[in-house]
Amino acid sequence: MPTIKEILQTMDYGPAPESTKEAQAWLDQHGRRFGLFIDNKWSEPLDTFGSFNPADGSELAQVTQATNEDVERAVEAARSAHPAWVAMGGHGRATVLYTLARLLQKHARLFAVLETLDNGKTIRETRDADIPLAARHFYHHAGWAQLQAEEFADYRAVGVVGQIVPWNFPLLMLAWKVAPALAAGNTIVFKPAEYTSLTTLLFAEICQMAGVPAGVFNVVTGDGRVGEAIVRHPAISKIAFTGSTEVGRIIRKLTAGSGKKLSLELGGKSPFIVFDNADLDAAVEGLVDSIWFNQGQVCCAGSRLLVQESVYDRFIAKVKARMQTLRVGSPLDKSTDIGALVDPVQQQRIAGLVESARAEGCEVWQPACDTPAAGSWYLPTLITGASTTATVAQTEIFGPVLVASSFRTPGEAVQLANNTVYGLAACVWTESISLALDVAPQIKAGVVWINSANQFDAACGFGGYKESGFGREGGKEGMYEYLTPRAEDARPATPLKAEKSKAKPADAGNGAANPFQIDRTAKLYIGGKQARPDSGYSRAVHGANGGFLADVAEGGRKDIRNAVEAAHKATGWTRATAHNRAQVLYYIAENLAARADEFVTRIAAQTGSRNAEREVQASIERLFYWAAWADKYDGQAHQPPMQGIAVALNEAVGVIGIVCPNENPLLGFISLVAPAIALGNRVVAVPSEAYPLSALDLYQVLDTSDLPGGVLNIVTGSADELARTLATHFDVDAVWRHDGSEEGCAEVERLSSESLKRTWVGGAKGRDWFDAKQACGRTVLQHASQVKNIWIPYGV
Ligand code: NAI
Repeated sequence: MPTIKEILQTMDYGPAPESTKEAQAWLDQHGRRFGLFIDNKWSEPLDTFGSFNPADGSELAQVTQATNEDVERAVEAARSAHPAWVAMGGHGRATVLYTLARLLQKHARLFAVLETLDNGKTIRETRDADIPLAARHFYHHAGWAQLQAEEFADYRAVGVVGQIVPWNFPLLMLAWKVAPALAAGNTIVFKPAEYTSLTTLLFAEICQMAGVPAGVFNVVTGDGRVGEAIVRHPAISKIAFTGSTEVGRIIRKLTAGSGKKLSLELGGKSPFIVFDNADLDAAVEGLVDSIWFNQGQVCCAGSRLLVQESVYDRFIAKVKARMQTLRVGSPLDKSTDIGALVDPVQQQRIAGLVESARAEGCEVWQPACDTPAAGSWYLPTLITGASTTATVAQTEIFGPVLVASSFRTPGEAVQLANNTVYGLAACVWTESISLALDVAPQIKAGVVWINSANQFDAACGFGGYKESGFGREGGKEGMYEYLTPRAEDARPATPLKAEKSKAKPADAGNGAANPFQIDRTAKLYIGGKQARPDSGYSRAVHGANGGFLADVAEGGRKDIRNAVEAAHKATGWTRATAHNRAQVLYYIAENLAARADEFVTRIAAQTGSRNAEREVQASIERLFYWAAWADKYDGQAHQPPMQGIAVALNEAVGVIGIVCPNENPLLGFISLVAPAIALGNRVVAVPSEAYPLSALDLYQVLDTSDLPGGVLNIVTGSADELARTLATHFDVDAVWRHDGSEEGCAEVERLSSESLKRTWVGGAKGRDWFDAKQACGRTVLQHASQVKNIWIPYGV
């Protein structure tokens, strides 16, 4: 008699197709031709291209390729609509967002079917993940709109925002971007991906039903040229982009120097780590969700499987057995696991990468199963035997392809996990909570899922480290991406000039004693020691009335490299407790206070400022301020709709290069360097080019304040040259430039595109460094940190 298992093996799923009747009727209603949605009106469909069903290659509709003039009209509509949308107030906008959420739910099945038809992803995913999560984003952000006046009182909407999304989660990416932008009071020019415009167009109709005022949400369809026109448009104040790292780089370059806010959510090559004490069967199911969700066309897909050596063979056998049961086929069938790829182009790209692995000697394994004759498909694939540097181990494949390797120790697992230019997400599987919570913070990624995978919620920020981009979507941190601090509007048009003292400034030329006489050639400060510049040159610094004060070292590329290396070695600072960092900052303040008179004299000698005493006092206070924040900028414990918590940690960015303002040589320097080190970053600072001596005077203060060597490195010289070196250095994680050089700031943004490092630049405008609103606060903390969400389920 056969066993139950044998009977079950002979049984198969019957077909369970979802009806497309409503979706086809909606397409027919529009004559299967769509114009653009601008100012709540549909334009005539012109210059159209086809949108196809990837599961069978059939054409679903024709969509318009927008022109530059169309983008212009959309921007104009958004610009005109903006004041009234802001004036509607938080509650007004909350009701609109709430209505959108309700309508999304009401039409959920239509959206789900249309998405499946257009994208090829399974109905199980669109019905159970994409659409409910999209609605959840609108509900959540209706709440932020309602709370805006209270929670974001010091901020205003950015203005007109341009949003460009990819094809892998068309409606969900729309919701991630549109909901916070509208909640904050912005108006939008939105571009869906050319393969998948249809749910965006249906959403535009929903906007009309929900009473979204004309011009608040505008849609321009088309390919990358339309995206580029949006990116280039001068009246757009913020670009939010999700897509390939390659296009992310192009956008970073195009927006350099424009003053546009920018958030980039780019590619990934995320590790899926399985320790030997994991629940292996649960981990296999997690892996299915991680790499085979949406055919692996997911930026945070767990595409690199790292398994502890002792269980590697056993785990791989389980994975293969599970792969054998994955059902590949019609995305509209409710029991299909793996649907179609978005386009034959993707199929060819994936096949090419897998073949390159085979050619490199890797083992390629696929389950025995057929794919439908028409459409674009790729079988779930497991690659073993790839070296860590193999193309398939480093490149984002963006398909159902898993690359597996083993590790021996937790340390090696972390090292392998971080061996990538990306840093979007990671999964850690172990039954030891202690091991999981030890490993999670060591992984350089914006999201870490413990014993789970691909968990998302509107209340929890999502976004990357390193070349996975910057900025967060979701949660409170996501709202800040669509807001501008009001203090920015109060900044002076140009850097403030020092108010000159009537007294003659001291220098060698006027008979008064030169306060810099003793140390006439100031050196660099690298790794906690004074160092001569590699060039062997120095530059003369003159006082307020032109007399010679001292020579300072002419730092160059080699010195920056040494400083970055020293900063990298000082990792202990990032691991140090916040309490410890606060103590060191207080100590620096105390030692500065002890030598305040000397600093006052020397600032006055350089700048001739009558405010030198005030500047030193403000610098001491500012050190106290950032010391105070060091142990208070805690993260949050979110309670997303799961049995567990998502802990949002404010982590240090890493090594930050800071080009300090010219004015206020001490206060400007401390206002930027102190918050960076308070939050655990290590810094390479370029002091005021015009008045570098006050920063150099700090050496002795630092030496007596227990600041470990390498945490703060100081390199004097040409701000332009040093900034350039910092911006192109691959081991520098962020560059800040605040010396009022418009071209210099633009160059930092442009050059940073290669490694996609974060930047914070002041542009041509000045900043009143005495004014706490302009120089302190949350904005600075946000620049000095990056949020990592660690998802911790329990009781499951
Ligand atoms: P893509 O990055 O070219 O397209 C994403 C969006 O950007 C689309 O709306 C596109 O029209 C637009 N775009 C393209 N060029 C632009 C430009 N110069 N300026 C402004 N917007 C522009 O991605 P694509 O070509 O669809 O996919 C290629 C590869 O990129 C995939 O195989 C995958 O590896 C990766 N990718 C990664 C995504 C992620 O979320 N990490 C999403 C989509 C693609």
